[in-house]
Amino acid sequence: MSTMRLTVLASGNGSNFQAILDAIDAEELDAEILLLVTNTANCGAARRAIKANIPVCTCTLKSSGGRTQQFETMSKAITESKSDLLVLAGFNLILPKQIVAHFENRIINIHPSLLPSFSGGMSPQPQKSALEAGVKVSGCTVHLVTEELDAGPIIAQRTVEVTPCDTVDSLADRILKEEHLVLPEVIKWFSEGWVFISDGRVTICNTE
Ligand code: GRF
Repeated sequence: MSTMRLTVLASGNGSNFQAILDAIDAEELDAEILLLVTNTANCGAARRAIKANIPVCTCTLKSSGGRTQQFETMSKAITESKSDLLVLAGFNLILPKQIVAHFENRIINIHPSLLPSFSGGMSPQPQKSALEAGVKVSGCTVHLVTEELDAGPIIAQRTVEVTPCDTVDSLADRILKEEHLVLPEVIKWFSEGWVFISDGRVTICNTE
């Protein structure tokens, strides 16, 4: 398979973005990040991208002059990048419908809960809700993005045990460590052509 071209969308610290970069640098992943799209000026993800010489498209609501213009700028940058896969790595905006349609089955998102439980909300809300519900196991999910929030077909999940001493922060940290492993792994599956989607379900089939 050829090198997978990625656009990553992120709004926050960017540790998942960094995990993808590190996997590429370590040659565990045959991919190239063409572009980082962010809606938050000077966020950690943007700083990490600049350090790694990756182009950044910053479209804040304010600088764009409104939601419509923000989505237009974002959509144009994403479409023109000619990426194979869009990766939402802590992106706190719902993508415009046109982008979801244009990249059907080629957009993935990472969410810090075992979906379909505790969908919606940004970190640490899902982890907080999981803790409040008294779950004994939590984790993270990588799924395909559809129009419905956090409801697309599940590609991979990783679990962590919840202990009686856990706080929201300790649980979020432990889940984040798993996120950093599973997200590059899923991108690798796509790059290897191992991801098959049928009837709204994902099967991973190592064709080697
Ligand atoms: C992660 O917990 C991710 O699952 C969620 O937002 C957080 C982003 O963390 N969607 P980071 O910006 O990658 O460090």
